[in-house]
This record gives sequence, structure tokens and C-alpha cells, in this order.
Amino acid sequence: MDSLIHEYEPKIRDAADLDALEAMRVALLGKSGVITEQLKALGKLAPDERKARGEQVNIAKVRLQDAIASRRAALEAAALEARLAAERIDVTMPGRHVDPGVAHPVSRTIERMVSIFSRMGYAVADGPEIEDDEHNFEALNFPPHHPARAMHDTFYFPDGRLLRTHTSPVQVRYMRDHRPPLRMLAIGKVYRSDSDQTHSPMFHQMEGLVVDETANFAELKGTLAQFVRAFFERDFEMQFRPSYFPFTEPSCEVDIRWERADGSKAWLEVLGGGMVHPNVLRACNIDPERYTGYAFGLGIERFAMLRYGVSDLRAFYDNDLRFLRQFA
Ligand code: PHE
Repeated sequence: MDSLIHEYEPKIRDAADLDALEAMRVALLGKSGVITEQLKALGKLAPDERKARGEQVNIAKVRLQDAIASRRAALEAAALEARLAAERIDVTMPGRHVDPGVAHPVSRTIERMVSIFSRMGYAVADGPEIEDDEHNFEALNFPPHHPARAMHDTFYFPDGRLLRTHTSPVQVRYMRDHRPPLRMLAIGKVYRSDSDQTHSPMFHQMEGLVVDETANFAELKGTLAQFVRAFFERDFEMQFRPSYFPFTEPSCEVDIRWERADGSKAWLEVLGGGMVHPNVLRACNIDPERYTGYAFGLGIERFAMLRYGVSDLRAFYDNDLRFLRQFA
């Protein structure tokens, strides 16, 4: 037993790793290990021999068990130490560069408008960008050959369909699908053959429509004044000028008194609107004797240009990152 202790204690102390240590534990104390066999053999000895021999074997067993336990603890501590060193995060290293995307200024402007009108109870509606003449013109009280059609610079397809020139056809679709009272907001792309610093062949409009038994012009004025103040977060002098749209009567255009960067002031037209024409209600199977409505429309890029101080509308579509990054 002594020589067993002397042989194994240093070997255990020097065990290179946990596997080597475990192999030694099995060889000594496993099911058929040297010590285990010795303990089993005690039963075959005479009782007086058994006591002395048993003590010796037990001393060896305890010493070797202790040696294994302390070597195991040392090896495990070293392994943990190595893992912590390998996994430590060096917070002084430079970070990896992340370029977060930002919403496009037109999208931001749309979100802003939706949020203002949702609070007033408007539901957002949608319609196709490829429209037919009936929805874009006819149902909106533009008869064939009506001169107002010429104002729209329409893109036509060979089959007579067209790219919608305004979001007003969504009014028609919505009124045919919903019964009054209704409040809707339509937002989307519209197309006109027109291109310069303030016109792009594709641009965005927002359209509002209210139809119920009491809708009136005063409410329209109040709504638009509220909206303009909420959008720009300041008060304005506003003027409602008489205007003409085939689908509203009476119609108006709205100007706000805009202060330019140099301090000078100008009237800027920002909105069109009016009371929904009875012919439009009729075309949507709504009784104009019972219901009245008002509608309004605006160009989203125009509002974005004013809010962000952008002087060329085309900047919104050049996708120049130096321009877009400013909206981060
Ligand atoms: N659709 C009109 C335009 O594009 C704007 C408008 C909408 C006017 C609703 C009145 C009512 O010019």
C-alpha cells in the first residue's frame, strides 16, 4: 500500500489534464481498480489479519482520493481561468461600424400626416396606381372632353387605362365600398407628365374625405387650419381662395403666409378642397339629399419641402446619400 501511495501521489499531482486524472482514478478506485480489488479481497482473509490489512487499504484509499480531488480542483480552476481569459471582451477595442437606415423624408412626412389625421378619426384607404378613366375622371364629374382633364397631363396606356393623376379616385372606390358616415385618408403616388424644380412626373398626394349628414364648409376650414398648424407646429395666417375642381362645389385653394429664410413673406398655395359635388355622391350611390361631404387634397413633397427647407423637389428622388443622411 505504501509503495502504491508513493507511486501514485506524484503521478496524480502531475496529471496533465482532467482525462489523464480520470484514467488514474479508474485504475485505482474504479470498479476493478487496484484499491477496489484489495477491498474485495479483505473478505477472504482471517478476521485478525483483515483488520490490520483493512486499515492499510483504507489509508491508501483516502490519501489517493484526496490527491485526486485536489488535483481535479486545480485543473478545473485552471480550465476556468483559461476560458475567462479567452472569452473576455476588450471594451477598449473600436466598435464595429453600423450604418442605421433612416426613413425617407417623404415617408416621414406621410407618417406625420397619418398620425395627425388618425387622431381626428380618419381611416387610411388605398387604391391602384393604374386606374381607368371612370374612377380617375368620369365618376369625379369630369365628363369626356371636359377642359379640366387637360390640366392633368395624363399618362395613358394603349388600352385606355391611365396612371392616376390624383388620389381622388380613391374617394370613389371608398364611397362605393363604405356607407356614410365616413372619414377616409388616401395617400399614394400619382403621375403627371410634368418635370421641373417643383414638379416631378411621379409625386405623392394625400387626400381626405368626410361624408355624413352634417358635413359643411366651416368644418372643412377648421380641419385644414388645424392640420396645417399641427403639421408645421406653428400658427399661420391662412387664406381660403375660391377655386375650381369638377368634383367639389364650392371649391377652394388654401394659402399660408410663409416666412422665407431671408425674412420676407409670401402667400403659398398648399391645399385644395371643397364640398363634394352632388354628382360625385350620386355616382357612388350616396343620396345627395341626405348626405353632404367635403374633401381636400395636397402634394406631400410640397409639405416636405417647406418643413425641411428643401428647394428642389428632385432631391427627394436622386437618392444622394449626402442628402438623405441629413434626415437621420
Ligand atoms: N385632386 C385635386 C388635385 O389633384 C385636389 C383635390 C382633392 C381638390 C380633393 C379638392 C378635393 O389637384
